Amino acid sequence: MEKEFEKLNEALTFIRSFYKEKPKVGVILGTGLGALVDEVEVELTISYQDIPHFSLSTVESHAGKLIFGKLSGQNVIVMQGRFHYYEGYLMKQIVFPVRVMKMLGIEYLFISNAAGALNPQYGLSELMVLEDHINLLPSNPLIGKNIPALGIRFPDMFEPYSSKLIQLADEIIQQNHNIEFHKGVYVSVSGPNLETRAEYRYLRTIGADAVGMSTVPEVIAAVHMNLPVFAVSVLTDLCQPENIKPITLEEVLAAAAEAEPKMAFLFKEMIKKLGFNL
Ligand code: HPA
Repeated sequence: MEKEFEKLNEALTFIRSFYKEKPKVGVILGTGLGALVDEVEVELTISYQDIPHFSLSTVESHAGKLIFGKLSGQNVIVMQGRFHYYEGYLMKQIVFPVRVMKMLGIEYLFISNAAGALNPQYGLSELMVLEDHINLLPSNPLIGKNIPALGIRFPDMFEPYSSKLIQLADEIIQQNHNIEFHKGVYVSVSGPNLETRAEYRYLRTIGADAVGMSTVPEVIAAVHMNLPVFAVSVLTDLCQPENIKPITLEEVLAAAAEAEPKMAFLFKEMIKKLGFNL
């Protein structure tokens, strides 16, 4: 058996010895967006450090736990804390938990992230649902020997973000006029520095609406496994080259905290509806 697949199976076996349910949804929470966990009826929590072959999150704003429980009546697994390329992880380490969640049986992957707004129409603490992405990270999680048990060698990227899930999100905001979102293109960069003015101009020119340092590896791994993805960016800073200001992590976290309830509401309402086959 391929070595990476063996490792995935070891993590799976370990988790399966504690968790017997059939999970419906996997959720990855981004920087400053961990509060959704408070709304989960938690049944089991496992620290990343206890799971074979899981890496440890090095970013203070990310907790590093897998949470198993119920959200909106569905079995969910929530990753509180994710791995970023800028922390020094390999791509296969970044996507390891997504692969394990799929092997545990999740049918949908929900992702949130904090991102900078490149589109001048976007405002602070607003939401952008991802319709597409541009991968500017210097690597790809599928590089290396393919694992046929997970997916094919050359997965297409025709629909990286499930149009059915985006449609479901549209239906939810039509019924709840207190929230709204943009739809756009996310570009992933390595970080950890924020971009220069010239880079923001470049990212806008190549077609991106928001920029961040995560999400794309997990989405590529999910698409490889035929796992439908819904992803939302919370816009934590405005990256318009003509009037950008210096920003701090505290400001990013404050903007994320303001938007978090809207994102959490959207996720909860969507997950509720997943009971009825799309
Ligand atoms: N650039 C890259 N990543 C980010 C940003 C940004 O401006 N804001 C939040 N994450």
